[in-house]
Amino acid sequence: MNKLVHFRSISFPLFLIFFTILTFPCLKVTSAACNADDEAGLLEFKSGITADPSGMLGSWKKGTDCCTWAGVNCMVNNRVTMLSLSGQPEKPNSFLSGTISPSLSKLKFLDGIYLQQLQNISGRFPEVLFGLPNLKFVYIENNGLSGKLPENIGKLSQLEALSFAGNRFTGSIPSSISNLTHLTQLKLGGNFLTGSIPSGMRNLKNLTYLSLERNRLSGAIPDYLGALSELRILELSHNDFSGTIPASISTLAPKLAYLELGNNALTGKIPDFLGKFKALDTLDLSHNKFSGTVPKSFGNLTKIFNLDLSHNYLVDPFPVMNVKGIESLDLSYNMFHLNQIPKWVTSSPIIYSLKLARCGIKMKFEDWKPSETYFYDYIDLSDNEISGSPIGLLNKTDYLVGFWASGNKLKFNLEGLRIVETLKYLDLSKNLIFGKVPKAVSGLEQLNVSYNHLCGAIPATKFPATAFVGNDCLCGAPLPPCKV
Ligand SMILES: *[C@@H]1O[C@H](CO)[C@@H](O)[C@H](O)[C@H]1NC(C)=O
Ligand SMILES: *[C@@H]1O[C@H](CO)[C@@H](O)[C@H](O)[C@H]1NC(C)=O
Ligand SMILES: *[C@@H]1O[C@H](CO)[C@@H](O)[C@H](O)[C@H]1NC(C)=O
Ligand SMILES: *[C@@H]1O[C@H](CO)[C@@H](O)[C@H](O)[C@H]1NC(C)=O
Ligand SMILES: *[C@@H]1O[C@H](CO)[C@@H](O)[C@H](O)[C@H]1NC(C)=O
Ligand SMILES: *[C@@H]1O[C@H](CO)[C@@H](O)[C@H](O)[C@H]1NC(C)=O
Repeated sequence: MNKLVHFRSISFPLFLIFFTILTFPCLKVTSAACNADDEAGLLEFKSGITADPSGMLGSWKKGTDCCTWAGVNCMVNNRVTMLSLSGQPEKPNSFLSGTISPSLSKLKFLDGIYLQQLQNISGRFPEVLFGLPNLKFVYIENNGLSGKLPENIGKLSQLEALSFAGNRFTGSIPSSISNLTHLTQLKLGGNFLTGSIPSGMRNLKNLTYLSLERNRLSGAIPDYLGALSELRILELSHNDFSGTIPASISTLAPKLAYLELGNNALTGKIPDFLGKFKALDTLDLSHNKFSGTVPKSFGNLTKIFNLDLSHNYLVDPFPVMNVKGIESLDLSYNMFHLNQIPKWVTSSPIIYSLKLARCGIKMKFEDWKPSETYFYDYIDLSDNEISGSPIGLLNKTDYLVGFWASGNKLKFNLEGLRIVETLKYLDLSKNLIFGKVPKAVSGLEQLNVSYNHLCGAIPATKFPATAFVGNDCLCGAPLPPCKV
C-alpha cells in the first residue's frame, strides 16, 4: 500500500536524508587498487567486528580493491572518503556486533562515516573521530554506544553533521559543543542524556536540524534557540523540559517546518506568535500542561499537516483553521466541547489519522460524512456522546488500522460491521451495541467489546475476559461456558 499521504508526512526529513547520502557515492572509482593504509585500516575495522550474521562485510577481502567493497567509496585519488554500512531493521540478522576500531584513523581522507541501524556496535565515544581531520559527516545511529560524550567534543570543529541518535549515551551535553559552528545537523535523540541544553548551542547558527528528543534533558527551553534562524526541524519531545515556550523563538517563524515539544512538562498558554509560522508542517505540543485557549492566529497555519495538542488543559473555543488538508489531527483529552467534528477536518482530502477522544462531540454517527475516507488509518472518537452506527463509515474505510469509539452511545448490530484485513485495533467498549461477536474479530491484535448488550457464544480468540465482560449474555471462553 503506497499511500500518498504517508509519503507527504515524511517528505521533508527524507529530502535531508537523500541530500546527505546522494552527494557522495557518485564519485566511486573501481579501476585501480586502493591505498595500502586504507586497506589496512578497513581490515582492522573488520577484525573489531565480532558478529556479522548477514555477511555485510563479506566482500572485504585482503588483496582485492577496497574501493569496491560494500559500503566503501573512494574519490579520484583512490583514497577512501566514505564508509557507509546500514542494517535493515525488518531483517533480524541484519546487524553488526563489536566496536569501532581506532585503526579507522588510517583513512586520512575519510569525510563521512555512516554506521546506521547496525543495532549492536558498542563501546564508548569513538575517539578515532578526533584523528580524522577531513571528517565532515558522522551518522552513528541506532547502535549501542554508551558512556559520556567527551568534554573535548568541540575539537571536531570541522563537522557539518553529527548524529548519535539511538544509542545509550549518558551524562550532559558538553559545553564545548559550541565550537561545532559548521554543523547543519545535530541529532542526539534517543539516548539517556541529562542536564539542560548548554548555552553555547546559540553559536551553532547554521543548524537546520536540531534533534534532542527522547532523552532526560530538563530545564527551560532556552531563549537563545531563537538565534538559530536557519532551523527547519526542532525536536525536543519526550524530555523533562519545563516552563513556557520562550517568546524569542518567534524569530524562527519564516523557516521552521517541524516543531515537536510533546511529552514534556511545559506550562502556560500556547503563544499567539505560533500562528505566524507560515512554513509549519508539524506541530506537536501533546502531553504537556498547556492551558487557556488555542490562539485564533492558528487559523493562519495554512500549511499545517500534522497537529497534535492532545493531553493538555486547553479550553474552548477552538479556532477555525484555514488549512487546505490536514493529514493527522489529535485534540484528545483537553477540556474542549467541540459539539461536532470541525468542517475543516471533514473536508480534508488527505486525512489519515483523526483523534478527537473526549472532545465533547454530540452527534449521530451517520451525520458525519467525511469527503475522503480512502486514506484513513486511525479514527479515535472515544469518550464522546456519539449515537447511531459507524457501519456506513467502516464500509468505506478500506485500509483502516485502528478504530476506537469506547464510551459513546453507539447502537448497532455488531455482525453488520465490516472488519477489513488491515484492521488491528478495535475498541467499542461501553456502548449500546447488540448482536453476536463475529468470527472475523479473531484476526485483530486488540479487541474490546466489554459493557455492551452482546449475546451468544464468543468465537475462538486470544483476547482476555476483560475484553468481553459486562454484556447481556455472552458466553464461552474466556467467559464461563454457554448453558446448553
Ligand atoms: C551484542 O554485542 C554484545 C557485546 O559485543 C554481545 O555480548 C551480544 O551477544 C551481541 N548481541 C547479538 C544479538 O549478537
Ligand atoms: C575549537 O576549534 C578550534 C579549531 O577551529 C580548536 O583549535 C579548539 O581547540 C577548539 N576548542 C575546543 C574547546 O575544543
Ligand atoms: C554557514 O552557512 C553559510 C551559507 O551556506 C556559509 O557561507 C557559512 O560559511 C557557514 N558558516 C559556518 C560557520 O559554517
Ligand atoms: C492572519 O494573517 C493576516 C496577514 O498576515 C493578519 O492580518 C491576520 O490578523 C492574521 N489572523 C489572525 C487571526 O491572527
Ligand atoms: C455496507 O456494505 C454492505 C455490502 O458491502 C451493504 O450490504 C450494506 O448495506 C452497507 N451498509 C451501509 C450502512 O452502508
Ligand atoms: C476493555 O475496556 C474496559 C472498559 O473500558 C476496560 O476496563 C478493560 O480493561 C478493557 N480490556 C481490554 C482487554 O482492553
